[in-house]
Amino acid sequence: MSSSTPPRDPKISIEHVYKIFGEDPQSVLPRVETGASKREILEETGHVVGIRDISLDIASGETFVVMGLSGSGKSTLIRHINRLIEPTAGRILIDGEDVLTLDEKQLRAMRRQKISMVFQRFALLPHKTVLANVMYPLRVDGVARDKAREAAMEQIETVGLAGYEDRYPRHLSGGMQQRVGLARALATSADVLLMDEAFSALDPLIRGDMQAQLKELQSKLHKTIVFITHDLDEALRLGDHIAILNDGELRQVGTGEDILLHPADDYVERFVRDVNRGRVVTLASTKRDATTLAASELSRARLIELIERDGVDAVVVVDGENRPVGAVSEATLYAGRNEPDAWWTDTGNLPMPEKASDDTVLAEVLPRFAGHSTPLVVVDAEGRVVGRMSATDALASLANDDG
Ligand SMILES: Nc1ncnc2c1ncn2[C@@H]1O[C@H](COP(=O)(O)OP(=O)(O)OP(=O)(O)O)[C@@H](O)[C@H]1O
Ligand SMILES: [Mg+2]
Repeated sequence: MSSSTPPRDPKISIEHVYKIFGEDPQSVLPRVETGASKREILEETGHVVGIRDISLDIASGETFVVMGLSGSGKSTLIRHINRLIEPTAGRILIDGEDVLTLDEKQLRAMRRQKISMVFQRFALLPHKTVLANVMYPLRVDGVARDKAREAAMEQIETVGLAGYEDRYPRHLSGGMQQRVGLARALATSADVLLMDEAFSALDPLIRGDMQAQLKELQSKLHKTIVFITHDLDEALRLGDHIAILNDGELRQVGTGEDILLHPADDYVERFVRDVNRGRVVTLASTKRDATTLAASELSRARLIELIERDGVDAVVVVDGENRPVGAVSEATLYAGRNEPDAWWTDTGNLPMPEKASDDTVLAEVLPRFAGHSTPLVVVDAEGRVVGRMSATDALASLANDDG
């Protein structure tokens, strides 16, 4: 399983949840618990194992992506969260409260106030306008008309549909309809959004727009979003954490980077093999230690000594605070080979290195090597050197052959 630490105070906790579909799931449960395969269970008992022994924690304010192929159990899992599905075994906690203990009334209240769901296919009411669609859950929940209208208009604007509020769904493109669905989910005060393949029916360009819009919204709203997709690029783009399901089993949970760099098993490895790592892998996990030299000790002899000692192609020259004031590569040494000793002790003569931070992704870094012989230095928020990246290392990290 993944190396990432679970959130300390999860918004949603799923604990050993099993769901078996069929006539008498409880009678089949012991066999599932002791490891009979989905196929064996189906052949021998006619029951379908939807999900098997899933435990995971979802932190407040994160976007948690569940991904897997068709039939892997994604919808089954997410529907446990608002109890559209009851587990065969296990518990689901929201804000520490066991949803299975809620009575009908409490459950309805939870679905209205705490959790809203965005479906794959819009699920708009065709005979109601955009505004009425977005207002609908609020009205059902007893919010006064004026207040509901105000909240709805605000979200219609948020998703970029101002001016369309009096149109009917049939007047809108698929992408616009999906935005209405999103506005409707956002208009409620729910702090959990369940999105089951919410963007999958959209064509790629619109889908990309929606992903960007969701990210932007989320950076302001900090809802807890559980987002289902079977698209790895979408998962990597949106997910703070990603869970990978296969045949109802959880194969791995981690950040996108965890999953790409340390796939838990062959299944995950095959799943992520063809992804563009450059967009996901950051300098945090791929940088190396930098060889540094204090500006006060600067000399040509010392630079050569360090380059030879560490077998590096460059040295980063730093001030007393460990901030880079220049960088010397072999090319710089060569270019300055005829300069007098005094030239070498003046940091003003040295080229400044390119800088990046831990969260910079490799794809962003590669073009910056072109035309530069200075190294790329990784600095922290205070500008202090925390590592470096060379073009060779960056390319090696992008290659998919370390699995
Ligand atoms: N109501 C049901 N009755 C019987 N089997 C079901 C039911 N709902 C789901 N299943 C089975 O449970 C398994 C998981 O289905 P689920 O719908 O959760 O998959 P999914 O990952 O959401 O797939 P998709 O990507 O196609 O939406 C499948 O084998 C499916 O056939
Ligand atoms: Mg599904």
